[in-house]
Amino acid sequence: MVTLDVSLVPAELAERDLNGWAVAVLDILRATTVMVTALENGAAQVVPVLTPEEALAGAGSRQGALVGGERKGVALPGFDCGNSPYEYSREKVAGKTVYLTTTNGTVALRHAARAGAVTVACFRNRTAVARWLAEQEKPVLLACAGRKGRFSWEDLAGAGAVVAALEAVAPGVFQPTDAARLARQVFAEWEGRLKELLASTEHGRFLIDIGFRDDLPYCAQLDVSRLVPHWEGGSLTAPQARA
Ligand code: MLT
Repeated sequence: MVTLDVSLVPAELAERDLNGWAVAVLDILRATTVMVTALENGAAQVVPVLTPEEALAGAGSRQGALVGGERKGVALPGFDCGNSPYEYSREKVAGKTVYLTTTNGTVALRHAARAGAVTVACFRNRTAVARWLAEQEKPVLLACAGRKGRFSWEDLAGAGAVVAALEAVAPGVFQPTDAARLARQVFAEWEGRLKELLASTEHGRFLIDIGFRDDLPYCAQLDVSRLVPHWEGGSLTAPQARA
């Protein structure tokens, strides 16, 4: 059977040998939800970078590029968009390269870049990502971005959503590790109440406090997208939406 694992904190991801693995990075609130949204809305590519300076320099060097992301949940001076998915509308991002820098999600994606096959997942595209992972015929790692280096409940639940979908699309193929079993159990407990789940988490409560309450129901939408971002050469692009 093929190993199906979940890394719970970014340090675990950073230390692992990812050679031969297929990795999906999850930062449900909100970075990977934003990446999927930007590509759904026609962004030419999303380039994850580690610092605001890198993002501003990247966008400055390319015509029609945007700078997005956050520190402490909000956009920095000079940014075109923050880290709310509602800021990545078709009108704003279609055809544009988005340089994105966030506290946790873009960092995790850069760590995952060492793997053989990489994508990003959120609740919106979890079944599409599960199908893609099953096709890779590699051990699978679902990498939780966490929050400020620590574990986050919503990323574990998101990983569990992918575990459940993987076991449905490829029954009997994967051997879940203990962490993957935990993730699946958390998702099963909250499926059908994902908005409540997000509002109950540390990061969800923080986002409500700073005025982003409406982002939570958006990030809680399950299986509304068939988009599996394609990772190559340091950026994400949208391949054709998958059946
Ligand atoms: C992150 O990558 O740190 C998060 O997406 C933070 C946020 O919700 O803006």
